[in-house]
Amino acid sequence: MPLDKLDYVSSVWRDNLFAGKVVFCTGGSGSICSAQVRALVHLGADACIVGRDAEKALSVARDISTARPGSKVIGIGAVDVRRVESLQGAVDRCVEELGGIDFLIAGAAGNFLSPVSNLSPNAFRSVIEIDLIGSFNATKVCLPHLLESAKKHNSQGAIPKSTEAGPGGRIIYVSATLHYTGTPLQTHAAVAKAGVDTLSNNIAIEYGPLGITSNIISPGPIADTEGVQRLVADSASAAKTRAKIIPLGRWGLVKEIADATIWLFSDAANYVTGQTTVVDGGAWRTQSPS
Ligand code: HXC
Repeated sequence: MPLDKLDYVSSVWRDNLFAGKVVFCTGGSGSICSAQVRALVHLGADACIVGRDAEKALSVARDISTARPGSKVIGIGAVDVRRVESLQGAVDRCVEELGGIDFLIAGAAGNFLSPVSNLSPNAFRSVIEIDLIGSFNATKVCLPHLLESAKKHNSQGAIPKSTEAGPGGRIIYVSATLHYTGTPLQTHAAVAKAGVDTLSNNIAIEYGPLGITSNIISPGPIADTEGVQRLVADSASAAKTRAKIIPLGRWGLVKEIADATIWLFSDAANYVTGQTTVVDGGAWRTQSPS
């Protein structure tokens, strides 16, 4: 197709890009996931965010809904991704109130710093269960709805003439770069995220023929998250030292994770699946395991 017919501006990057789409997000009250959802809502989507803390889920949902007048954003609390029945209830409510699920962001995670010597079997299992089993559970309960969405949106045949039907049936797993090199005090999270990456890659292969895309976003050091804000408040000099060894010379922002999310859920990523988008300023290439 000649370049002048591609018409990027009107076909891909536009207002209401996600009008009529619904995103379901676990860990949606957290700094990164709430920014991802906010960006999608700003561009036309409706959303359901779930989290363990009921009050927080409601207040973050209210806040996200201000991103676009008329948007519908539901916050459901007391949802533990380790319990599939708890997630199923949230998905049922999302479908009933918003009409379906087109996009899943599996972002729920639990973490703390601990050497293996202080990591009890239960502590290790807790993080594996939240990050990995929780991502699997979210996938299982959303898949029937993602398949419906994929059917509606992705039936172009073996050699498509265009992909104008718009995206549907998409998954983003929020992972990390901890396991690329190994990270001290993070054995539990690194092992869990390695599993999440493998989960995404297998979903991509198994569900690609059914029109579903599955991709990973791996954030690096992101400044405007609750955890890092605490760290920076404790030690601004540690934050500056960290920035010095990041190739781009600075921490990232949640907006930069949201930007990658918009791309992966847009028509611009129609032919992208089973991939990892690392948004880390190049940090993992210089991160030292010592
Ligand atoms: C050692 C710890 C610990 C710590 C908890 N445990 N904190 N062990 N050091 N700092 C142990 C407990 O003693 C217990 O083991 C086991 O973990 C389970 O703890 P509970 O509090 O009973 O479990 P639960 O209520 O389910 O809490 C889960 C949690 C919690 C993961 C342990 O800390 C949590 O949810 N944290 C907040 C969420 C969070 O941090 N989200 C941000 C994720 S960001 P015993 O043996 O005593 O029973 C992220 C990005 C990764 O993940 C990349 C980072 C760069």
